[in-house]
Amino acid sequence: MPSKLEGVKNPEENPVLVVDFGAQYAQLIARRVREAGIYSEIVPHTMHAKDMLAKHPSAIILSGGPASVYAQNAPGIETEIFTSGVPILGICYGFQVMAQGLGGVVGETGTSEYGHTPTQTHCDACLFDGVPEDQVVWMSHGDAVSKAPEGFTVTASTAETPVAAFENRERKLFGVQWHPEVRHSQYGQKVLENFLYEGAGLEPNWNSTSIIEDQVAKIREQVGDSQVICALSGGVDSSVAAALVHEAVGDQLTCFFIDHGLLRAGEREQVEQDYATTMGIKVFTVDESERFLDALEGVTEPEEKRKIIGREFIRSFESAQRALIEQLGGKDDVKFLVQGTLYPDVVESGGGEGASNIKSHHNVGGLPDDMEFELVEPLRTLFKDEVRAIGRELGVPEKIVARQPFPGPGLGIRIVGEVSRENLRVLRAADAVVREEMTAAGLDNVIWQCPVVLLADVRSVGVQGDHRTYGHPIVIRPVTSEDAMTADWGRIPYDVLARISNHITNTVPEVNRVVLDVTSKPPATIEWE
Ligand code: XMP
Repeated sequence: MPSKLEGVKNPEENPVLVVDFGAQYAQLIARRVREAGIYSEIVPHTMHAKDMLAKHPSAIILSGGPASVYAQNAPGIETEIFTSGVPILGICYGFQVMAQGLGGVVGETGTSEYGHTPTQTHCDACLFDGVPEDQVVWMSHGDAVSKAPEGFTVTASTAETPVAAFENRERKLFGVQWHPEVRHSQYGQKVLENFLYEGAGLEPNWNSTSIIEDQVAKIREQVGDSQVICALSGGVDSSVAAALVHEAVGDQLTCFFIDHGLLRAGEREQVEQDYATTMGIKVFTVDESERFLDALEGVTEPEEKRKIIGREFIRSFESAQRALIEQLGGKDDVKFLVQGTLYPDVVESGGGEGASNIKSHHNVGGLPDDMEFELVEPLRTLFKDEVRAIGRELGVPEKIVARQPFPGPGLGIRIVGEVSRENLRVLRAADAVVREEMTAAGLDNVIWQCPVVLLADVRSVGVQGDHRTYGHPIVIRPVTSEDAMTADWGRIPYDVLARISNHITNTVPEVNRVVLDVTSKPPATIEWE
């Protein structure tokens, strides 16, 4: 199957399927497979084996998960998958599902292993080719495989887990108890690549050029001669989505930049300039701030804010569509709307087939049912780093491609409390200070993004001069991340934090306290709402 992929134009036709057993690991695995140059897709464990096989997978990876294989109603997989001939790698829970499904034994070992664990691997095993015998891997399990299935060779062990990996090379079935997709596992990527290249015999064929060719063809097919409008936000995703559509259909594309009144200071001017001067794409700015702010009046619940913002976005674009039709002399063929929806947005909004709904990202769950557009979403299967790579290849200016993410709902989801004009003014002023100080300290490329959040519903007592103050806290949330699926809090130097704090409290009188968010994701999310 793998070698047959050679010369096949569309890598998406033979995806590596990552079967999601309910934890957040599946997305990370899918990403690591893409990093190895091979297209991957996440599917739920509830999908029937025949439907998985109907996708003509080039390999299948069973992810980790929180359950115990011998618990009642434990998620499993139909065992015909193991006799299908498709190469399979089981990881952690997936490894145990595989062991059980193939006739091995899984039980409680009595001792759990969590975190860094020294492991001994057999270097003649397929997965550990070119990997030192002694390595430290990331474990997270209570149960363990106590007996490998018949015909399988045990290929790794730890002090507590004699069967930490196994393989049956002939049947192309492999498993590891640890998490190779996690960076804490030494040689984790190498182990995954050994599975993909050696175990499954795949060749890397998923790269920026193939993605662009494939998407351009798809966009042309979907859009035909019709006019397309684009929901430009100024961020990386919609910029690259617009560049892709422009590459595909040129002047049929018109971009609208909606000023929803939830932008940061100077943002509108910057976007207008970047697009007009550098990208050669038609862009119209539409000031819709009154419409959004009126609709948000009195609303404090995060999901409600997101739904309102999503709805008003679409309404704004529908007005823009009507204006464009008028401009085109009444020709009613503006029926497509481009959005820069990414794969993590789709997965986190519950659209990733089986994942739970964490937040309704404004461009996915927030859309109203009566929407009049057909969506063009050329980034829907991509992760952020893939989007940046194709942006660069398409010639999108570096200052746009490298821009830190800013959410579509803007400052609306960074005010805990009502999104009033006054609260926006305060947050905008504090945010401008943080951005100025971070840039001055050379930290823009060090952190992934730094939301600044106004706790409008919270007040605390302070003292300024001889006076008591009763102001609001501002939270700064610098994070480092690879893809926003997980994140760590950014270690900003103390002197920079001190400058930010002084600068905000000296120039924004409504704020008398500056606090730093030191939570990773999970358990927190990056944005506060
Ligand atoms: P969370 O808060 O879910 O954020 O950890 C992950 C990444 O997504 C961005 N984000 C959004 N982007 N529309 C967007 O375009 C949204 O509704 C939205 N919500 C969060 C967030 O800034 C971070 O980069």
